[in-house]
Amino acid sequence: MKQVEIIGVVGAGTMGMGICEVAAANGMQVLVFDVNTEFAEESFEAMKNRLKKRVIKGKISESQAASTTAAIKVVNSLKALMPCDLVVEAIVEKIDVKIQLFQELEDIVSESTLLATNTSSISITAIAAGMSDASRLFGLHFFNPAPVMKLVEIISGLSTDKNHLETAKKLCQSWNKVPVMAQSTPGFIVNRVARSFYGESMKLLQEQLADINHIDAVLTECAGFRMGPFTLMDLIGIDINFAVSHSVYNAFFGDPRFRPSLLQGEMVQANRLGRKTGRGFYDYAEGSKNTKPAYQESDVTVDKLVVPEHENNFSALFSHFDCDFRLWEGDKVIIDGCQILPCAGLTATQIESDTNFPTCLVDLSFDHQRCKCVNLAFGPAVNN
Ligand code: NAI
Repeated sequence: MKQVEIIGVVGAGTMGMGICEVAAANGMQVLVFDVNTEFAEESFEAMKNRLKKRVIKGKISESQAASTTAAIKVVNSLKALMPCDLVVEAIVEKIDVKIQLFQELEDIVSESTLLATNTSSISITAIAAGMSDASRLFGLHFFNPAPVMKLVEIISGLSTDKNHLETAKKLCQSWNKVPVMAQSTPGFIVNRVARSFYGESMKLLQEQLADINHIDAVLTECAGFRMGPFTLMDLIGIDINFAVSHSVYNAFFGDPRFRPSLLQGEMVQANRLGRKTGRGFYDYAEGSKNTKPAYQESDVTVDKLVVPEHENNFSALFSHFDCDFRLWEGDKVIIDGCQILPCAGLTATQIESDTNFPTCLVDLSFDHQRCKCVNLAFGPAVNN
């Protein structure tokens, strides 16, 4: 198995610099190249500042921060990556640019150097097709922020040498990451599943069914995600997310399930790319209060609640209410003449018309006891 000690990283943006930090913190020597050297230096400075903050918070020691920083060197030509045992590419999500880069790299590094791409969605097989030795390219897909996220997808192209995949797996494990082996299919595992997470959320927004605060709050509080889709898109970069959506959509021959969002395209055109440009779905300008989801606290007060005993899920939910709370052996929860039912596929409007009773549906939550918000949908009789 190949010994990996010197790592090259191409692209010093969000992901490239994160990967540099991971490798350097784990004792590797790291050389990083970006077409924009000035930007690479700035990005390295920003990384140093992040490390300083972590020292102040007591998360890492001063010597850990110093050794990580000392292990990274910004280089100003691709040729400087010649001594690397492994080169990881983290440049723009464009297949032509990636193909050209790997062709150039093959002429620079030794024959035994492993080559990896951090692409989120582009076929490894397609990138490798432009190389003279397609067996040494594999996907090494880190997640954002790379120093924090444990998961790394290791992706095999059709021609990838299995020994290289094994080396990559061992390397990731030695970096305290959790490697998952995947095949070169559009979006691999995570980004394929995640397309619906983003896509459906943007559809909800466009259909004006809910705003970004509401959707983010419901998905974090009720569905248990660490971040809502709009917060996450702002972190990833809306241009990057849009490029991945395009790439997966095209790779699936235009399957409508993966159609990119017009709204997201507009955001890219307006350069509202998220945190990196100071504005995305949320506003990150200095002094802005709109940097994260905020949901309205209900001003409804309830004096007395009667809940059917068999509705265990509801019992937990309603125990939040500061009121006289009793179990009742009936089949309906009724508050102020409105029946409260768990969401089971039908809309509140449909149930209202079937039962001829004003209706409020309560969305399911992974844990009503723990979550701080409740997603409710009212039928027209209640809304009016
Ligand atoms: P970014 O836009 O923050 O950084 C890309 C960097 O690459 C820029 O600094 C740019 O100057 C440089 N660059 C462009 N072409 C180059 C070339 N030919 N040679 C050298 N440097 C070049 O992009 P980000 O977000 O770091 O993404 C990089 C890759 O990682 C993309 O393939 C993306 O799909 C993937 N990725 C992104 C994630 C994210 O959350 N942003 C998560 C996982 C993967």
